[in-house]
Amino acid sequence: MFSNRLLASLLTGIFWVFVTAPAGALSARATAGVDLQARLKEVEREPKLHDAMLKLGGKVASICDHCHGVGGNSPQPNIPNLASQNPVYHLDQLRKYANGQRRDEFMERMIKVMNADEKVGMVLFYAHQAVSRKPVSNAALVARGKTLYTKACIGCHDATGHGDETLARIAGQQPVYLSASLKRYRAESGERLDRDMAKSTKPMTDADIDALVAFMMAME
Ligand code: HEC
Ligand code: HEC
Repeated sequence: MFSNRLLASLLTGIFWVFVTAPAGALSARATAGVDLQARLKEVEREPKLHDAMLKLGGKVASICDHCHGVGGNSPQPNIPNLASQNPVYHLDQLRKYANGQRRDEFMERMIKVMNADEKVGMVLFYAHQAVSRKPVSNAALVARGKTLYTKACIGCHDATGHGDETLARIAGQQPVYLSASLKRYRAESGERLDRDMAKSTKPMTDADIDALVAFMMAME
């Protein structure tokens, strides 16, 4: 715990010095009450602003990459990829961490130091990064996962797992992170709450979750 707290303080400090201060001119328009989703739409409509925000997003990402990996391809099974994540979903998760609907001590602190444009630039930057493929190690488990997925998940997450504006990309996601997320939804413990996901995971055993995770990780 101590080293996590230390890392959190260090990284949030670095964030202020290297991202927030030099980006001041661009982010001067950003204030606490900004509607992030509306700002994202505005940025997507204006090519020049879009380019500037991508640059700012790249700077922000250089801090996040310490854990989430270069270009958002996480090197650690318990930390999610951010590469190719859908920007609307991505911003919504930042909102959930910030208002306590989703709990993770480190992420809650990290988000507090970001201003609105840093958040919007960052989600745009990661949306442009490709997810690296992972080798399939257990084909039988993947096949079992596919059967479960087709029955219980495909209706919302579709056959590709790429999601859409409001749904996460789950294809190629990190296994320990996926498993922990599904178990949190199933337990309805407050770390992560969603009515649809609680209902979908309720009938799943731990072994079912292992199979689903193997399948989602193998999706391109
Ligand atoms: C010290 C390591 C660390 C750093 C640095 C870090 N994160 Fe995270 N992040 C995590 C962990 C661990 C999780 C999984 C938490 C959970 O299960 O809710 C996570 C989860 C997330 C999620 C949820 C992903 C999803 O699929 O729902 C987002 C979004 C995110 N981080 C964004 C960021 C951004 C943006 C930055 C940089 C400003 C950042 N993180 C920096 C460790 C880190
Ligand atoms: C009725 C629609 C629906 C169904 C069915 C459904 N999901 Fe979801 N799923 C969602 C929504 C909505 C979210 C985002 C919830 C949130 O904000 O935490 C989500 C989130 C997730 C996440 C978290 C992604 C991330 O990046 O953290 C995973 C993993 C996931 N679903 C997997 C599954 C699996 C596996 C199944 C089948 C057992 C399933 N879902 C069935 C709607 C659905």
